[in-house]
Amino acid sequence: MPYIIGRMLSAERILERCESLAQHSELPGGLTRVFLSPQARAAGDKVLAWMREAGMQAKLDAIGNAVGRYEAARPGLPCLMLGSHLDTVRDAGKYDGMLGVIAAIECVGFLNSKNKRLPFAIEVIGFGDEEGVRFGTTLLGSRAVAGTFDMDVLEAKDPQGKTMADALREFGLDPQAIPRIARKRSDVLAYAELHIEQGPVLEAEGLPVGVVTAINGFSRLRVTLRGAAGHAGTVPMSLRRDALAGAAECALAVERVARSHPELVGTVGRFEARPGAINVIPGEATFTVDVRAPQDSLREHAVAQIRSEIENVSRNRQLASEIESLQHFGVTTCAPRLIERMERAVASQGFRVRRLPSGAGHDGMALGAITEICMLFVRCKGGISHSPLESITREDADAGAKVLLEFIQSYS
Ligand code: GLV
Ligand code: MN
Ligand code: MN
Repeated sequence: MPYIIGRMLSAERILERCESLAQHSELPGGLTRVFLSPQARAAGDKVLAWMREAGMQAKLDAIGNAVGRYEAARPGLPCLMLGSHLDTVRDAGKYDGMLGVIAAIECVGFLNSKNKRLPFAIEVIGFGDEEGVRFGTTLLGSRAVAGTFDMDVLEAKDPQGKTMADALREFGLDPQAIPRIARKRSDVLAYAELHIEQGPVLEAEGLPVGVVTAINGFSRLRVTLRGAAGHAGTVPMSLRRDALAGAAECALAVERVARSHPELVGTVGRFEARPGAINVIPGEATFTVDVRAPQDSLREHAVAQIRSEIENVSRNRQLASEIESLQHFGVTTCAPRLIERMERAVASQGFRVRRLPSGAGHDGMALGAITEICMLFVRCKGGISHSPLESITREDADAGAKVLLEFIQSYS
């Protein structure tokens, strides 16, 4: 659906575009689109075309983010940055990330159709990696923009053994140019991200949108336990050093620690055993741990408890353990002045204002290093996300886009 001069925001176009991006998937019949993949290239090209149609100058940056800029009346002024991510988890929904990028483009397209320039530039970024699926480390696109990208990560390998540096080169990008896309504080007035809630609170309260107060911090570990592989038929139970049974005990310990506080969550999301045969005692097991909380001290204490539980299990079962700290991020607080401005935008559209924290991670966590951030959540059906069942209504897409537009127009 093209823009017509003076046309209104279109929730239909937003949803149509989410559907259109969902076609770019490595999984037929589902949605999986990882960083620097051919599907990411196709989705990025579509987003760049939509940005240009909405009156922006648009290009891929050195890490594969789709970046569009809508100048102020005078070119070169600092920008209000909007955006979210274009990569997905495996077997994902169509809205996690993409909705925020497309809704922001819709708002700029609206301003452009009215020939309206603001006293600041607007940049919309579709970040190339937030989920971290391919290289096991998250927020790559937004960390590059925030200047906190760790160049050592270029040597991280994907499951096929390809380094990130090689994947960037194959995508046509120069890894050494990444530091040059870092923004200066003075270039960015604030970062605002619209995102589906990914939880059940707004639906339970009958509200289309909510204003985020803070994004919970996370810690991620990779744990390897080593015992002794052996014959499943011949080694008596008392003489085994089964790494997988040890890992299973550790997974239950993660669950126990996470259940010890109502605001804590802990997940063992990957679990592998080697050599992985029906008649072989697993000699090695690897699993991941993801711990999140709204207070850093609570999360840090839980991680210490989990480490100590893993060491106890390993000692009792005579296993060697290795615990790698993959990534951790502290709580990112949304700026009170932006929260209040977003709340006024919500109220201006006739909705009750509801503040809520974000349990999920977002690109705003990275942008928080250089600018103040805020987020608007849009209700999703059943609170379901990271699943093909993710869904939003046309009315809620409309509500989210209208609130975001009001926020942008009222920003000064
Ligand atoms: C990102 O979606 C995360 O919170 O893991
Ligand atoms: Mn996600
Ligand atoms: Mn997301």
